[in-house]
Amino acid sequence: MLKKQKIYIETYGCQMNVCDSGKVVHLFANLGYQPTSDSRTADLIVINTCSVREKPELKLFSALGRYIPLKRQRPELVIAVGGCVAQQWGRKLLERCPGLDIVFGTHQLDHLPRLVAEVRGSQKALSVTDFLARPGGLEVMASPAPATVSAMVTIMQGCDNFCSYCIVPHVRGREYSRPGSAIVEEVRRLAESGVKEVMLLGQNVNSYGLKASGEISFAELLGQVNEISGIERIRFTTSHPKDMSYELILAFATLPKLCPSLHLPLQAGSDAVLKRMGRGYTAASYLEKVEKLRQVVPDIALTTDIIVGFPGESEADFQQTLTMLEEVGYDQIYSFKYSTRPGTRAADYDDIISDEEKRERLARCQARQNEISQALLRAQVGKIAEVLVSGSSKRGEGEWSGRTPESRIVNFPAPVLTSGKIAAGDLYQVKIVEAFKHSLKGEVVADAGS
Ligand code: SAH
Ligand code: SF4
Ligand code: F3S
Repeated sequence: MLKKQKIYIETYGCQMNVCDSGKVVHLFANLGYQPTSDSRTADLIVINTCSVREKPELKLFSALGRYIPLKRQRPELVIAVGGCVAQQWGRKLLERCPGLDIVFGTHQLDHLPRLVAEVRGSQKALSVTDFLARPGGLEVMASPAPATVSAMVTIMQGCDNFCSYCIVPHVRGREYSRPGSAIVEEVRRLAESGVKEVMLLGQNVNSYGLKASGEISFAELLGQVNEISGIERIRFTTSHPKDMSYELILAFATLPKLCPSLHLPLQAGSDAVLKRMGRGYTAASYLEKVEKLRQVVPDIALTTDIIVGFPGESEADFQQTLTMLEEVGYDQIYSFKYSTRPGTRAADYDDIISDEEKRERLARCQARQNEISQALLRAQVGKIAEVLVSGSSKRGEGEWSGRTPESRIVNFPAPVLTSGKIAAGDLYQVKIVEAFKHSLKGEVVADAGS
């Protein structure tokens, strides 16, 4: 019998990259490849990269330093690099890393099987990074693994915002929205295979459909997904505050499956910094949107992204970021030191903040947020929340884990059930009994249907 080929894939970056990696595995599964978690036994190694900051970009080079030498024992091994660093470097990556076989760009994901066939057994190395009017790969529908409760669906690709610090528009290309009908069809198929929760993905979902004539708006798309039976929860990311429409805010009130949680990247609290970042909103207009959201959904849980040490950020500017953390009361933040990205406008800005200063501000920002997050989690104790079970808890010991509609993690001991065994995808009413640093502990009160 012919030995099955094995594919090993390593992924850095955002959820869109994670979703793309699932598609790559799916494309090769159709060709008979088996996924492996051991790079040493793989016939094909794919690295799906991120260049949003210098650190993830550097990870690629250390990964290649590990994998290219494997070719000495396995000359038939093919190594391919895709994603945002591949797009940024193109052919230059082949020159810098002898032994690398394929560089494929962010619009070329569906070409990978052809590229692998072309280089296999030859001495060729290929780089394909052209941007296309319609990014390839968006319509590849990976089938979820058995018992998958939550699935990601990419609804658009690219970004037209060109925030001054950000490389994403340069490496993902112009904004392209998938047809609403294709998205609805994909979610329907996921629901049929048992998926209960979908996360709709795009760099700026709030402008979904706006640039495709005749396309539905994002709020309308959410309305259509809300109708799909079997789907219990809908989430999306990422929203740009400047494009957060009132129609979308109202959707939180009218669509029962839309979860009361929203990632709304702030980046900075100072208007002067926001202006230099090119974000298109002020702290006051951001707060106004938060207020409107809370009028519609008082308990909505907000999360955000923060950049500290943007060029020219004074101590007073930074203090305004801390003030915004207090005023909004985020459940969680993702905070980063500003990292200069080649080709972006901010790369030419003066008044660079020293790494030491950035590190110090990041630590203060995270310490302040930890207190806020802790207080919010502690305030949950005593409440009853609906938990969608994702699987057994990481801690084991017969514990299960799931999330509330606000996306808070709850671990709880398996309940004694007359109806059978607990399983991923079940919904329970859980009483919160304790708050930890990043999660809650609960006790099942009843299943959600009762
Ligand atoms: N589309 C999303 C963000 C995608 S990138 C949005 O508009 O919010 C994810 C996060 O990485 C950004 O929100 C930002 O906080 C961070 N980021 C982007 N470029 C960065 C840079 N040059 N240095 C540090 N952080 C950066
Ligand atoms: Fe980057 Fe701004 Fe686009 Fe987000 S909106 S991906 S931060 S350019
Ligand atoms: Fe990184 Fe590209 Fe996503 S730069 S954050 S993997 S869009």
